[in-house]
Amino acid sequence: MATVLSVSGSPSASSRTNRLLRHLDKRLIAQGHDVIPLDVRTIPAVALLGADFKHPAIVEATKLFAQADGVVVGTPVYKASYSGVLKALLDLLPQYALAGKTVLPLATGGSTAHVLAIDYALRPVLSSMGAGHIVQGWFTLDKDITVHEDGSLTVAPAATEALAQVVDQFSTALGSTPLLAAAS
Ligand SMILES: Cc1cc2nc3c(=O)[nH]c(=O)nc-3n(C[C@H](O)[C@H](O)[C@H](O)COP(=O)(O)O)c2cc1C
Repeated sequence: MATVLSVSGSPSASSRTNRLLRHLDKRLIAQGHDVIPLDVRTIPAVALLGADFKHPAIVEATKLFAQADGVVVGTPVYKASYSGVLKALLDLLPQYALAGKTVLPLATGGSTAHVLAIDYALRPVLSSMGAGHIVQGWFTLDKDITVHEDGSLTVAPAATEALAQVVDQFSTALGSTPLLAAAS
């Protein structure tokens, strides 16, 4: 089975994007993949904003990308594009850090006006980094993601179905048999 790096690109401590990715990680794990979560907000700002390529956290993140067969890249939509912290990390990786890798782009946002941000903003960057295969992504409205007091998460049924589909397509592209059950 594949090694998947699941990168959440939100700077927010209560990030919905982060919760959503960790929720989807479970489906990938159930399909037999090794999933490594990476929350960009945990990388020291001094490394990200100071372009410190040699900072241990950047060296470690670069290794995680190199070891992965597949990468989930999740971002909130900020100002009609992907987040600044995600870009700060991508800028510190080698030019072809995604060479030969299968990539699943995901976004959360507040308005369907920016549903195409994955395609006009994120996808070209992933492509420029050599991604071997960028599978169909998905934009989830923030109002469709509910985080409960106990930390559990509910995703609206239509979004659940669409997310299960793109995750399974990603999984298939990585060479596994997707689950038949929808993500809960
Ligand atoms: C600074 C900022 C800018 C935002 N800009 C947009 C935007 O341009 N389009 C949009 O659809 N949503 C926008 N949103 C809403 C977020 O994309 C949405 O709430 C998202 O789910 C937040 O994810 P997070 O909790 O992981 O940070 C913005 C939110 C913030 C805080």
